[in-house]
Amino acid sequence: MKSEILAALKNNQDFVSGQELCEALGVSRTAVWKGIKSLQASGYLIEAVSNRGYRLLHSPDILSRDELQSIRRTDWAANMIYFYPETDSTNTQAKRLAEDGCPHGTLVVADRQTGGKGRRGRSWDSEQGTGIYMTLVIKPEFVPAAAPMLTLVAALAVTKALRERFEIPAQIKWPNDIVLNGKKICGILTEMSAEIDYIHYIAVGIGVNVLQTTFDEALQMTATSLYLETGKSIRRADLIEAVWEEFEQYYQIFLQTQDLTGMCKEYHRYLVNVGQRVKVHDAKEPYEGKAMGITVRGELIVDTWDSRKLVSAGEVSVRGIYGYV
Ligand code: BTN
Repeated sequence: MKSEILAALKNNQDFVSGQELCEALGVSRTAVWKGIKSLQASGYLIEAVSNRGYRLLHSPDILSRDELQSIRRTDWAANMIYFYPETDSTNTQAKRLAEDGCPHGTLVVADRQTGGKGRRGRSWDSEQGTGIYMTLVIKPEFVPAAAPMLTLVAALAVTKALRERFEIPAQIKWPNDIVLNGKKICGILTEMSAEIDYIHYIAVGIGVNVLQTTFDEALQMTATSLYLETGKSIRRADLIEAVWEEFEQYYQIFLQTQDLTGMCKEYHRYLVNVGQRVKVHDAKEPYEGKAMGITVRGELIVDTWDSRKLVSAGEVSVRGIYGYV
């Protein structure tokens, strides 16, 4: 009910009367009043004037289920929202929920992770109140071999959300790091539970550095936050909503061909590696070449001096020869 009151206030610049809220939500005036009190206690600045009603004056950067629910505009993504002030890892929690049968589209969000996971067994710094830590559970019909491409779909969604909704010129470092001014602001970890030919579920985990003002020494050269690069204090809930709205659109396109045919061009436009010299950390033998773009299966096209190689995300990592990008 609180999220519905919040949505009504957000959708109106002016006062919304208590009576209107009662009728729209089918609850008593006392229930509305209690809801307003509780929202005020959570930090929302709501003006209450007798005979006029309620008006939202300010929404701070509040991350909660009610906030996310009140601004949700997606169709199926985030149809169930689980919010935790603290959890070990939203990916781990999402997998637990998926094992318990949660629906396709369930979104897990946390304000802090105590065991945030990165790719290749690394950890992900997840301090409270600064970053976005979220995981979407997907239960698709396609074959397991198509699943790795979803990470690129998610990278495209984050990049588009940042560029279009927040005017932040983010780029993609293949396959799925989002960078700004050459440093990483977002990482994506996709995990899957599957049989050889059947996917039980996929957990698409996204971590965005939004409001951090400092990073550990080990990360300073390669990581940054949206705040540090732009000076903007973006409301995390707004970015979360924007990401899943974009994701839904790209996912729809992805389903049509079950590959990246419909979004290769756009991915290519945002790809920071294009035309750059990269070092491919191949297990057999590392080599250098020039990144040319991606295939419809999401492989990186790398031209070496004597041949063209297609690099799969799961097999190798790619670094620029002069630094992280
Ligand atoms: C990487 O670049 O190494 C991937 C980082 C992924 C981090 C996110 S934060 C939300 C979700 N939960 C996790 O434990 N990891 C992902």
